[in-house]
Amino acid sequence: MRGTGSADYNEDFMAAELICFEEKCRARYPITQVIYNCPQCGGLLEAVYDKPEQSAPMLRRLWRDRRASNAPLDQSGVWRYRELIPFLPSYDGVVTLREGNTPLLESKQAAQYGGLDRLVFKHQGFNPTGSFKDNGMTCGTAQALRLGMTRVACVSTGNTSASMAAYASAAGLQPIIFIPHGNISYGKLAQALEYGARTLQVKANFDQILALVRQLAERLGIYLLNSINPFRIEGQKTIMAEMMDQRDWRSPDWVVLPGGNLGNVSAFGKALREMKDLGLIDRLPRLAVIQAEGAAPFYRLMRRKARRLSAVVHPETLATAIKIGDPVSWPKARHEVSTSQGTVEKVTEQQIADAKAVIGRCGIGCEPASAATLAGIRKLTASGVIAKDADVVAVLTGNVLKDPDYIYRYHTGALKAPSGAKLRSTFGNAPVIVPNDAKRIARMLEGS
Ligand code: F0G
Repeated sequence: MRGTGSADYNEDFMAAELICFEEKCRARYPITQVIYNCPQCGGLLEAVYDKPEQSAPMLRRLWRDRRASNAPLDQSGVWRYRELIPFLPSYDGVVTLREGNTPLLESKQAAQYGGLDRLVFKHQGFNPTGSFKDNGMTCGTAQALRLGMTRVACVSTGNTSASMAAYASAAGLQPIIFIPHGNISYGKLAQALEYGARTLQVKANFDQILALVRQLAERLGIYLLNSINPFRIEGQKTIMAEMMDQRDWRSPDWVVLPGGNLGNVSAFGKALREMKDLGLIDRLPRLAVIQAEGAAPFYRLMRRKARRLSAVVHPETLATAIKIGDPVSWPKARHEVSTSQGTVEKVTEQQIADAKAVIGRCGIGCEPASAATLAGIRKLTASGVIAKDADVVAVLTGNVLKDPDYIYRYHTGALKAPSGAKLRSTFGNAPVIVPNDAKRIARMLEGS
């Protein structure tokens, strides 16, 4: 599974450093220093590099050629674009499960529902563990190995932990995961157990557990693989690189994605800015972040143009992946949304549930958090923020099978919002119980 072959030596490894994201600080640190925040000012950190030697046309050709290669690194939809993420001195420690390589899927029905002429989904649910976290995790585990770590940890609403469990186990590291007790889907919890993670269910919410895990990581010398880890962000950048490659380097007008801890929008914005600087694309798409109404601190921050994010103390949503009230990456997310002249929207539980059923009926399917994108698009076209004829890519972040319980409840009219209110199964499709009787079944099917 490890990357083998002549590509192992990173010829592009030049000056890779960590730099504080805060404009006023910008302190620099060695790429191998184990820090998650700036030791001087507490700001977020990001990886920076010298520009690659190749020109934009050379890079585009190189990446396209690698699609025909059988080398593991080239087959990875992350490491194929390694010139954009040159933080490793050598690639022999890389573990790839062939992450990325996710399709662009067009759907007329979803476009119509969203108020658009055309709509394309970038479906990250096609990843090895079923979510976009795999793009970041292959990088995070590679950095953990490079630093000589033996144990890795994360707090998660389910997908990060499923992904970390798989990649850490594949890399021979011990995964330790912390999840909010009773608040993640069984599909995700099952993955963590199956992939061999030491799994701790804490009686607290995501935000509280993150604070706890940060303390424990420091105390026990465990490497933290939440999206505060800058190498996770580097991996997630390649989602945008692959999307542009698939579109022959034409920028869409909008990229729409759900927002939880806000790592993904931070990664997308960084990737797009860097690709523009390198001449790979000629303009930045606008980023639209969609949050669930009961867990929308970033929406509030941006709409009020507040100076600092104020946390939602008790976040609530059935889209448990984005049930986060105090997102750590908000300063980066704010920068990326502003730089791209983007927007933030919030959607209700009913809007998420119905949009999800529409995506399902298109034969595509996704988990609840991902459906916030289509619900948000419908709202943003109705209010005129997104034009009907805009070129829009919505990122579906997780696979339909991540949360089957939600699906069954929706289609059988048993889905209840966190407030206790029953949700309408607008596009419900309940199974029918029938007797073992061909005549009666035939009569029933003829009538429909
Ligand atoms: N969609 C899905 C399916 C997710 O799992 C997450 C985050 C998001 C969207 C939001 O992305 O945090 O980068 O803004 N899940 C994390 C987890 C928090 O622990 O799996 P974000």
